[in-house]
Amino acid sequence: MPRTLIKSGSVISPTGVEPADVLIDGETIASVGTPGSFADAEPEYDKVIDAAGKYVLPGGIDVHTHMELPFGGTFASDTFETGTRAAAWGGVTTIVDFALQRTGEDVQAGLAEWHRKADGECAIDYGFHQIIGGVDDEALKSMKYLTEHEGVTSFKLFMAYPGVLYSDDGQILQAMQTAAECGAMIMMHAENGIAIDVLVAQALARGDTDPVYHGTTRPSELEAEATHRAIVLAKVAGNVPLYVVHMSAADALEEIAAARHDGRNVFAETCPQYLWLTLEDTLARPGFEGAKWVCSTPLRSSKDGHHHQESLWKGLRANELAVVSTDHCPFCFKDQKELGLGDFSKIPNGIGGVEHRMELMYQGVVTGQLSLERWVETCCTTPARMFGMYPRKGIIAPGADADVLVWDPTGQTTIGINDKHHMNMDYSAYEGFVVDGKVDTVLSRGTVVIEDDAYVGRKGHGRFIQRELSQYLV
Ligand code: URP
Ligand code: ZN
Ligand code: ZN
Repeated sequence: MPRTLIKSGSVISPTGVEPADVLIDGETIASVGTPGSFADAEPEYDKVIDAAGKYVLPGGIDVHTHMELPFGGTFASDTFETGTRAAAWGGVTTIVDFALQRTGEDVQAGLAEWHRKADGECAIDYGFHQIIGGVDDEALKSMKYLTEHEGVTSFKLFMAYPGVLYSDDGQILQAMQTAAECGAMIMMHAENGIAIDVLVAQALARGDTDPVYHGTTRPSELEAEATHRAIVLAKVAGNVPLYVVHMSAADALEEIAAARHDGRNVFAETCPQYLWLTLEDTLARPGFEGAKWVCSTPLRSSKDGHHHQESLWKGLRANELAVVSTDHCPFCFKDQKELGLGDFSKIPNGIGGVEHRMELMYQGVVTGQLSLERWVETCCTTPARMFGMYPRKGIIAPGADADVLVWDPTGQTTIGINDKHHMNMDYSAYEGFVVDGKVDTVLSRGTVVIEDDAYVGRKGHGRFIQRELSQYLV
């Protein structure tokens, strides 16, 4: 088994920053020691990575991606091959993608389809959540089966997208009761889709067809209301663990904070786009350009009095928000976003970002919004614990998979279509962002996949991870 030494770096975990050397034996971390501990045997190692002046952290874990998701008459433009390669470029060593079941479809067939898409294609390890877009008796049985036999222990429901993925309150309650019985996690897209569809129809009838109306027809109150309702339903369903995805709004976050204060197993994630981008800078651009940033929940206004970004950063520090994911769901501008020319409701929903989460969140460290430890906790360790992958993933410790990101805090990263950009899309949502810090070296299960500004991994290296139940419950 090849042995690799990462020496002279500072190892970051949620509990601190320590100078330490990391010894890797094959695919796993064999030992973590004080600097110089393994120096005697240095000539025997197959590879020595000098991390002097650099941070050594667990590879990033992005628990919210959508490779090849069918949406609005097209498919998310990253395949598992292109998307996991871009993830590796961004210091990510595990993704958890969403297998899809829609009304009338078979859950296990949906999961099999996702295995078919990913098998042999991935540069890094991957797991699946299961979208339940049609709650019926068969789907409920399958939830138990997937939890007990397939390593798929979390299920996403939608309070938005009526007629497509939407579940009504009764269906949500039933799915939650099932999850409570088998210990699974319910992930919720919390927006009141019935009310949103009325506002969308009214806007279109007025002739308000530009991308900005995607944002104004999805007010934060309707995210907060749905979040509240999901929390109540989760309680009635026997206190099933609830994880609200892609949280964008201060008023929704207040609902999470109140439930957590009450001691409930209620969690939420946010994404870099909600922390760094506003409606005014993006959706509201003249003409159709705003389509690039159409996603749901929408990017929020900095002028609606809610101070969304300030609250989200604060929520991250206070563990009201436990995780940062990307909700990576890329569509090209040409031919894909353009499906909504003249009608914002037909713009495929999603933003690509799997490559930039570690970079954009490190910028939060640089600007003093987050500690180094919390950066690692929200982007690496808690995602692993929340979704049953710990301590195999999410920590630099003996016995863990050797998924490692060596980070250069003295470097700089310029994001943009002609700069750092490896996702399969024809624009960058973060065009022109220049952030401090840089991905230096990335190892996936002991194999170097990024080194010297080059991708040296291979498709098919990534393995499917059978996940356990959440390890983050109170
Ligand atoms: O706009 C988004 N978020 N697209 C992906 C699907 C979802 O709801 O997460
Ligand atoms: Zn969603
Ligand atoms: Zn999503």
